[in-house]
Amino acid sequence: MSEPSVLKRALDDIRQTTAERYMGRVTSVVGMLVEVTGLERVLSIGGRVDVETGDGSRVTCEAIGFREGKALLLPFGSLEGVGLGCRAELKTDEPSVRPTDAWLGRVVNALGQPVDGKGPLPDGRSPYRLRGAPPPAHQRQRVGGKLDLGIRALNAFLTCCRGQRMGIFSGSGVGKSVTLSMLARYTSSDVNVIGLIGERGREVQEWLEDELGEEGLKRSVVVVATSDEPPPLRRQAAYTTMALAEYFRDRDKDVLCMIDSVTRFAMAMREIGLAAGEPPASKGYTPSVFAELPKILERAGPGTGAAAITGLFSVLVEGGDHDEPIADAVRGILDGHIVLERAIAERGRYPAVNVLRSISRTMPGCNTQAQNDLIARARRLMSTYEDMGELIRIGAYKQGSDPQVDEAITYHPRLENFLAQDKNERCSLAESYAQLAQALDVPWQTENAGKQPGQQQQADARQAGAARAQTAQQQPQQARQQTQARQQGQRQSLRRQARGQQAGRGAAE
Ligand SMILES: Nc1ncnc2c1ncn2[C@@H]1O[C@H](COP(=O)(O)OP(=O)(O)OP(=O)(O)O)[C@@H](O)[C@H]1O
Ligand SMILES: [Mg+2]
Repeated sequence: MSEPSVLKRALDDIRQTTAERYMGRVTSVVGMLVEVTGLERVLSIGGRVDVETGDGSRVTCEAIGFREGKALLLPFGSLEGVGLGCRAELKTDEPSVRPTDAWLGRVVNALGQPVDGKGPLPDGRSPYRLRGAPPPAHQRQRVGGKLDLGIRALNAFLTCCRGQRMGIFSGSGVGKSVTLSMLARYTSSDVNVIGLIGERGREVQEWLEDELGEEGLKRSVVVVATSDEPPPLRRQAAYTTMALAEYFRDRDKDVLCMIDSVTRFAMAMREIGLAAGEPPASKGYTPSVFAELPKILERAGPGTGAAAITGLFSVLVEGGDHDEPIADAVRGILDGHIVLERAIAERGRYPAVNVLRSISRTMPGCNTQAQNDLIARARRLMSTYEDMGELIRIGAYKQGSDPQVDEAITYHPRLENFLAQDKNERCSLAESYAQLAQALDVPWQTENAGKQPGQQQQADARQAGAARAQTAQQQPQQARQQTQARQQGQRQSLRRQARGQQAGRGAAE
């Protein structure tokens, strides 16, 4: 430990011994819930208490509620050795971490203590409150220019800007963690702060070594709270992650802050709420969970200065139900969602992004006209294919019946190929647009794609303008709409016919 931090600790100790001390006693322990009397007048929700165990060691607890004049506490560690009458002392210091740049490349627990066996971590000068507040809304900058995510499906279809907050939604085992590791390695941010919350212990080491790797860890700080740790610690891991992201943002670094997963944070909150006697609301989640989610997620985003915290939060959608309460609440708070779909993963296409069900709310505003036109064309082709996919697969669609469907069938394998990306491959923003344009046979000026929106707009104006003028000449808008409507009608009737044939076949059999 460095000299100044030893001195600071000593000063803190002196302050604590000279300050007034508040003591209470344990009156009951049920499961993880500890009841303490004697501190009710000085303790408030979120306050911390050190409970002495029989062998003289201490376990820190957090106040989660009050019942019949007694304080209800949940521990941050094991309650082994805690019994009736044990002494409980109020902690007066505010929970905080004191990070420094030396924390980069390290793995810490929810208390900010190193857990990677690489030795002690130096304490920084300024404390960062674990329950910090987001910057005032009216002083916040707007989201910045595009952030290169290194994954072409996201770069092209779900472009993310600096300071944007996106959710990655999927059922279990569909690829959230692998996608996050790709983002940690390939995103053009200065620093990553990654919170692994509620993961299985075995998976954490595997993820750190096999997915994130040395290269990714070098510019990251990872905060870990595994599923076997008490709920207050799992919840705190998310707060520590945000506090660390705020530290690096205040050091003028562009931060990518990731939490895997927000659902497990919400589950820890649910356990705490239920222990405190809160009534369960939706799917057992207590009202405090829904009050807390916006508070924590709002801490990511643009700052008051140039640096921003871009947030990427994974959300486990239980049973594939994208409308379950946590997914629904998080979707409403964030600026976009990336949906990973099991059916896509099952056919071996990774990352299993369902482009049509995903959205980035900063698009199309951050794109140039040429980029928007390219994306719109790709989406149209995908949507037509999805519309007719069932009929195409069972062979009920006859080639040549609808030129739009024929086109969608032609480009389908090329688009699928474009969306697939090996986890060891990085694809820049410029490459993403160029590769998509190539897949769709659209002429493309590569140098336009990597520029910031303002510059891009000028650079693309000629290309986009020329393309629009050409289209307008060839096909006036009204006529185009009529054609589209007609073709849509034809597709519907085709679908009806095919269903009729199928039903007929079924009846005959
Ligand atoms: N990009 C990818 N390339 C190849 N395989 C992948 C990819 N993404 C995911 N997988 C496969 O899917 C498995 C599960 O992925 P992952 O652990 O990321 O899922 P998850 O959604 O985080 O699961 P959980 O909800 O259990 O945390 C991986 O072990 C791997 O086999
Ligand atoms: Mg995972």
